[in-house]
Amino acid sequence: MINVVIDGTSYPADEGQTALQVARQNGINIPTLCYHPALKPSGSCKLCAVEVSGRTSGRPIAMLSCILKVTEGLEIKTTGPVVDAARVRAFKNLLRMAPQSQRLRRMADAYGVDLGPPPDGCVRCRLCVRVCKEIVGAGALKMEKVDGVLFVVPEVDRCIGCGTCANICPTGAIRVEDQENVRSVMIRDVVIGKHPLERCEGCGRWFATTRFMDFIEQRTAPHPHVKETHKYCPTCAKLFSDRTRAVSEHSVKVILPGH
Ligand code: SF4
Ligand code: FES
Repeated sequence: MINVVIDGTSYPADEGQTALQVARQNGINIPTLCYHPALKPSGSCKLCAVEVSGRTSGRPIAMLSCILKVTEGLEIKTTGPVVDAARVRAFKNLLRMAPQSQRLRRMADAYGVDLGPPPDGCVRCRLCVRVCKEIVGAGALKMEKVDGVLFVVPEVDRCIGCGTCANICPTGAIRVEDQENVRSVMIRDVVIGKHPLERCEGCGRWFATTRFMDFIEQRTAPHPHVKETHKYCPTCAKLFSDRTRAVSEHSVKVILPGH
């Protein structure tokens, strides 16, 4: 029987045991992924790092507790900056290989390791949220924490299906897809809204959602001249306004003396 010091407390241990075994039999938590009690340890995941004073240098170093055999008077720490740094490195390295793993994220969360947002295509620039609020005026998107991580999420029943968020998103994390007369708005492949589309009164193609048209109608109520073109798609609206301008310029030419 020997004695091992873990986090300042001395525990009895058998020669040949690993630091992880001694810690666990005394109720001290150390994260592990590749460890299995029925198998020989492999030291693959690197999550089980603990701090040990270097035997030659005396400087604290991180060692893998699943393969570290205890010796009389060995002192280890299971928390602190050396352990934290090793754990963050290990979690990040594992998540690079398995970015979809919710188990890894839950483990990291349980041990207070901040891994930042998942690699889901969104760079958290908030352009979509800001444009929807500041320019469109619909306020249909917001940032919300889910399991400690910020995500762009929809506000209930605020989306008008205009697609401005998808146009401004620099990474394609928000997308708009039109199929016949229905527009779907998607964030990270989750459909957050389906909207019926209206036909352009000029060329007849589906071009804007009914909710968007209603929204514009309300917003342009104080400006009656705008209503003339808002039932047209952008191409027809341009043709329409070019023709109106040409007619009014022609009228001016006829009226002005000397022309
Ligand atoms: S969804 Fe696109 S625009 Fe919105 S925060 Fe993410 S990257 Fe930026
Ligand atoms: S438990 Fe995976 S390296 Fe120790």
